[in-house]
Amino acid sequence: MTLRKIVKAVIPAKILVLIQNFRKRRNLKKFFLYDFRRYAAYSGRDETEEDRIALINLVCHGLEKGFTMPDFRPGFGVEKMRELLMLCDQFVTDYGATNHQFRDVVKLIYEYRLCHQRINVPVPLVIADKIDQLLEKFPDVNSSQVQIDCTGEHYFDDIGKEFPVFSGSRHSVRNFSGIPVPVEDVKQAIEIAKGAPSACNRQATRVVIISDKEKIATVFAQHGGNRGFGHTVDKLLLICSYLPGYCNGQERNWAYVDAGIFTMNLAYALHYKKIGAVILNWNMNPERNEIIYKALDIPEYLTVVVMIAIGNLPERFKVCCSPKKELQEIILER
Ligand SMILES: Cc1cc2nc3c(=O)[nH]c(=O)nc-3n(C[C@H](O)[C@H](O)[C@H](O)COP(=O)(O)O)c2cc1C
Repeated sequence: MTLRKIVKAVIPAKILVLIQNFRKRRNLKKFFLYDFRRYAAYSGRDETEEDRIALINLVCHGLEKGFTMPDFRPGFGVEKMRELLMLCDQFVTDYGATNHQFRDVVKLIYEYRLCHQRINVPVPLVIADKIDQLLEKFPDVNSSQVQIDCTGEHYFDDIGKEFPVFSGSRHSVRNFSGIPVPVEDVKQAIEIAKGAPSACNRQATRVVIISDKEKIATVFAQHGGNRGFGHTVDKLLLICSYLPGYCNGQERNWAYVDAGIFTMNLAYALHYKKIGAVILNWNMNPERNEIIYKALDIPEYLTVVVMIAIGNLPERFKVCCSPKKELQEIILER
């Protein structure tokens, strides 16, 4: 008998469990701290052109959505636009004006001015001059491709086509008709999505389907990403991970990886089932998290990773173009 086996044999089972738990927690601390250090060091960094584009895109996204809201609100996002214009000025000074992603941002600013001109409403004074000054530097930016005009009738025309066309036809939809999506259709989409791969086939993803409008409102009251369209959402799906399905420090991120893969599969499945959808963040601080868990009676062992808001499409609506990076910008060859 090895010493290890002898020690195990003489120590009472309860003490052994305590020791195992202590070791597990010590390990978890080490692993989480390792991630913490890297995240603390690099998130939100502003040292390179790529960093700055990431920051600009973040601000830009808040504005981009404004063009596609069910009710267009003239003068929307003034504070965001102020911030964006400041970042743009600084970007041109630091990195010049050739970056293609930066030029997409300029197009968005161009569209902001244009959409106000179209309805004969002046751009808010606090930003009007700044916008003109920036656009003067980009005389060749004279068209905008910020949003795509869609019709409920044709939006799903490409769902039977080959994968590159099918996947390219999916966009985040932020405008819904109010006609309810049958729960059965949602379940069929989830049935398709559950073919998603998962670590060791653990299948730890769970989906909470919320149909009750008051409950949806309870979640949205704590959430910043549904402004302007949340009231049109028909159903809300909470994509959760079943934490007991994971074991140790090495697996600490799997709950998020598995749920993320499942979420994308579900986004495609919903598209295939002709259900409009937008993925929504779960950027909840602990206090907001607690409020929602309590209100919806979600067990603590489920961790909500992300949400998907869904609904049927209205007759006419807009989606954001959301331009993507060039291939060479996301590949590192070694
Ligand atoms: C993890 C995640 C969180 C998101 N959160 C929000 C959100 O809170 N509000 C929103 O309007 N869109 C949200 N989106 C949708 C993104 O804005 C959208 O996917 C992105 O702009 C690209 O557009 P596309 O989906 O049309 O390609 C989220 C997407 C992901 C993947």
